[in-house]
Amino acid sequence: MGATILDGKTLSEKIIAECKMRSELLSSPPTLAVLLVGDDPASAVYVRNKERSCERAGIRSVTKKFPSEVREEEILEEISILNADTSITGFIVQLPLPSHISEQKVIEAIDPTKDADGFHPFNVGHTFLSKESEILAPATPAGIIRLLEEYDINLEGKEVVVVGRSNIVGKPIAVMLTNRSATVTVCHSKTKNLAEHTKRADILIVAIGKAEFITADMVKEAAVIIDVGMNRLPNGKLVGDVNFEAVSQKVGFITPVPGGVGLLTVASLLENTIRAAEKKRS
Ligand code: GUN
Repeated sequence: MGATILDGKTLSEKIIAECKMRSELLSSPPTLAVLLVGDDPASAVYVRNKERSCERAGIRSVTKKFPSEVREEEILEEISILNADTSITGFIVQLPLPSHISEQKVIEAIDPTKDADGFHPFNVGHTFLSKESEILAPATPAGIIRLLEEYDINLEGKEVVVVGRSNIVGKPIAVMLTNRSATVTVCHSKTKNLAEHTKRADILIVAIGKAEFITADMVKEAAVIIDVGMNRLPNGKLVGDVNFEAVSQKVGFITPVPGGVGLLTVASLLENTIRAAEKKRS
């Protein structure tokens, strides 16, 4: 028996439609700016997807492109301009940045009330304090929580294993699930006997960027699998961090790649932009 597919596409369409309705209630259209540095092909694809989704959600989008040699000060200067510009509701800086630019400095320069990705320490800190409703929550974790809620997957007392400890996915999702009364273990590249942890998981969240790394023998029967990975194989195929074909035969629920978490990250970004606009008005 195959798993139920956790359908990110249908849910993201629903969130985009909600955003469009909320945007129409605003006196002026919300605007999301995206700063794109360099010519990383994956980033260019993400940014194009974000622009298209914005249009459908009733959000104006502005993309500001910089060459990869741009100095850090120029990016920080552009951020101060966007912070001060009242016509910009929210903005993001597409990651990764070239190595001569400090991601942390850039993220900390963003006005937290315009931080549509939810990466600023103010927003991350409030996420820790269980105050997501008051802030712009980290986009990918917020999308994952929304997906689990959509399918009525209960979190209380569940064994959750998160593989990956990044600041933008692994660490914040671990905290958000702890705040929802799950029992959470965070694993990473130095974890010993990884499979012993993953096999215990009622809910397994994988965000490590390694193509098809999680195999069927590493998961528990009937588990819920959330695959945050997006990896391009040499033959051009896009796959997650989980071997979908084999794992989906064993588990209860699983997100596909593409069509899963990636779309919800974009939907959460749009939702944060609308929230930022609504807060500005109130
Ligand atoms: N690079 C990969 N994922 C993301 C994301 O969600 N936001 C930004 N800004 N950059 C990314």
